[in-house]
Amino acid sequence: MKPTALYILLSVFLFVAQTRAQHLTRENFDQDWKFKLDSVNNYANPGLADNNWRSLQLPHDWSIEGSFSNDHPATHNGGALPGGIGWYRKTFTVTASAEDKRIYIEFDGIYCNSEVWINGQYLGKRAHGYISFQYDLTQYLHSGKPNVIVVKVDNSLQPNSRWYSGSGIYRHVWLTTLASTHIDHWGTFVRSNHISSSSADIHIETKIRNNEARNRKLQLVTTIYDRNRNKIASGTKELTAVHGTAVPVEQTISINNPQRWSVNDPYLYTIESILKDGNTELDKYSTTHGIRSFSMDIDKGFFLNGEHLKIRGVCNHHDLGALGTAVNTRAIQRQLEILKAMGCNGIRTSHNPPAPELLDLCDKMGFIVVDETFDMWRKSKTTYDYSIYWDDEHQRDLRDHILRDRNHPSVFFWSIGNEIIEQWGDSTGMAMALELSSIVRALDSTRIVIAGNNEPGLNNNLIRSGMSDVVGYNYQQAQWKDFRTTWPGKKFIVTESTSALATRGHYDKVPFHTIRRWPSRWDKPLLDGNADHTVSAYDHVSAPWGSTHEESLTLLENNDFISGMYIWTGFDYLGEPTPYTWPSRSSYFGIIDLAGFPKDVYYLYQSAWTNTPVLHIYPHWNWKSGDTVDVVAYYNNADEVELFLNGRSLGIRTKENGKMHVNWRVPFVEGTVKAVSKKNGQTVLVKEIKTAAAPASLQLTADRQLITADGKDLSFITVKLFDKKGVLIPDAKHLVQFSISGPGTIAGVDNGDPVSHDSFKASQRKLMAGMALVIVQSSRKPGTITVTATADGVKAANITINAK
Ligand code: GAL
Repeated sequence: MKPTALYILLSVFLFVAQTRAQHLTRENFDQDWKFKLDSVNNYANPGLADNNWRSLQLPHDWSIEGSFSNDHPATHNGGALPGGIGWYRKTFTVTASAEDKRIYIEFDGIYCNSEVWINGQYLGKRAHGYISFQYDLTQYLHSGKPNVIVVKVDNSLQPNSRWYSGSGIYRHVWLTTLASTHIDHWGTFVRSNHISSSSADIHIETKIRNNEARNRKLQLVTTIYDRNRNKIASGTKELTAVHGTAVPVEQTISINNPQRWSVNDPYLYTIESILKDGNTELDKYSTTHGIRSFSMDIDKGFFLNGEHLKIRGVCNHHDLGALGTAVNTRAIQRQLEILKAMGCNGIRTSHNPPAPELLDLCDKMGFIVVDETFDMWRKSKTTYDYSIYWDDEHQRDLRDHILRDRNHPSVFFWSIGNEIIEQWGDSTGMAMALELSSIVRALDSTRIVIAGNNEPGLNNNLIRSGMSDVVGYNYQQAQWKDFRTTWPGKKFIVTESTSALATRGHYDKVPFHTIRRWPSRWDKPLLDGNADHTVSAYDHVSAPWGSTHEESLTLLENNDFISGMYIWTGFDYLGEPTPYTWPSRSSYFGIIDLAGFPKDVYYLYQSAWTNTPVLHIYPHWNWKSGDTVDVVAYYNNADEVELFLNGRSLGIRTKENGKMHVNWRVPFVEGTVKAVSKKNGQTVLVKEIKTAAAPASLQLTADRQLITADGKDLSFITVKLFDKKGVLIPDAKHLVQFSISGPGTIAGVDNGDPVSHDSFKASQRKLMAGMALVIVQSSRKPGTITVTATADGVKAANITINAK
């Protein structure tokens, strides 16, 4: 199934509401926090003055505000940015009307080791930096008087991560006020059974928590709404809420002609649960539901709603480039839009529970998600990672992860671990795999439990434990073909592949069929790399454990038994700058760079995975006379491509021998290279690349010129440098200054360069390969925002953004 152009267009305008299960009285609690970085003092005491602390709005990542340095204990693998200890405080009041209510604070995620106090009372600690959790504040609150909540975040013990983690309360915070008897936190679990085109049974389990001293006889009214908010079915159940505990209430409601959730039409129902005592409403809770069935077959792969679907996914880490890890819904949505337009239909949340907003968007936009909990178990990967807390924390964290996410229709797989060290050696991994998979299944038996294995052999403790009949391989591409004989009876998915490397817009002058596996030893510095730490963006460099994009894509598309594949990675991320080390500080793996600009291989996938007409030729056409240049084309919807240099044909090529590209070796002459794709002799598309002359003028283009004046929304503005005829200057590195007027701020700047040490929080950026990005954020005031870009010796540019 390929996404239609219409769908892609529609997805751009998707209304971004949350789809997660939630109380309707839940309020956002992100405003008016105070912040201080301090590794020495303790600020838990509510009486301490914090009026001279910095004021900020959450989500917040303090690491991204710091300077790059090789001295930070996070190392280049962690993004070479600072950690430390940060304190957050907020003073707030609750009204007297809340007196007989329960009040909970919920954190979507804090990195890491958070400790929380309310009015000096200690509430607890959570080590896991990606888990969501809540505390009951009720008994410590003073109504009508100021209350002080204090959060200590300790990310000082590093390295604790193999990638950039960010630091702080980097996700949203919520305050929920409820009657004493209410629907529990993560209190619903909705499943569909007996799904056919004419009907489906929707099974709803609702947990009712009674904090009072007596039992109560109550009613639960559950109503199902369709996408357009039409009421389509409902059911009422009488129940006894037993005091001091939470009891599950089961309901099954049948509906007619169900619309199924799919990647091309992610149809969502809303289930509203109202807890009542006669005419009094005690609680209202909303759960989004997608009706879908799926199965896997040893030989034929993955099926969604009975139809074969190849999972064409990517792995991503959680940072949002220049914004760091501070969650921003629009920034996540933009990433998903770029991936969807590429034909991608799957996301693996490597290697941790994601921001709830990511799953909300995957529900709405149609992605098949592998939702992962751990990158390590008891055996560590970095000195201070979660393995330290494993014995005490893993059961609670795993349970909380499943309870939080099990209503998201986009989640199909639970991954209990990535490249877990316990795969190898002594057999402790077997018992652990069984323990974790049974914790998951006890809470959700409707999804598939997997792990990302990089030991494909029969000694793999996780696979041989029998934890699952589906096996995920990370890499090990040479073993894919033998999978069914190695693991008879098991189904196959590639949880991670590729790890190809590229710097956008950089091309080495070696024949492009020269494949390099860099670094040749992963534990040794790269000796034959480029002095400027670039990696050639022809698809010809990969990590030694990986493959080029085309190598793994070809296998995926030609083998039905491979259910799907999650490519490492969709986007470049901070940290892990393979194949280099410092001064590089971010990855080269992305199909798309850190700024969100596609590298050339993006169009390889788009040509293979969509019906969008594609003809992409590269590299640029600014070379030295005497150079011989490989010109590569990715195309679809056509039989052949003809290439012309200054009007002279260089021949017609057609994809042969299973290849997914065509190419020409061309002695360089200044001028125009033109490619024409043809089907049945008719021209489909024409693309030209031209030799750029002297730099002349900047140009600004925005992904959206109309944004919401909510203090959160973003416009991503691309700046490009052209010659006087409008040809991109492919090697331009000019320093561009940005100025902004009107009700907006610059939230970040970037150019996708993995080696740059310039701050992301600045109003200037050098171009890389002729391009850079400036991210503009609205304020809460509507109006016109004007952004101007200037650079020495070239014509300036400006653009206006309307904030409504
Ligand atoms: C994998 C690992 C990823 C990342 C990748 C880089 O083995 O699961 O987290 O490190 O290698 O190629």
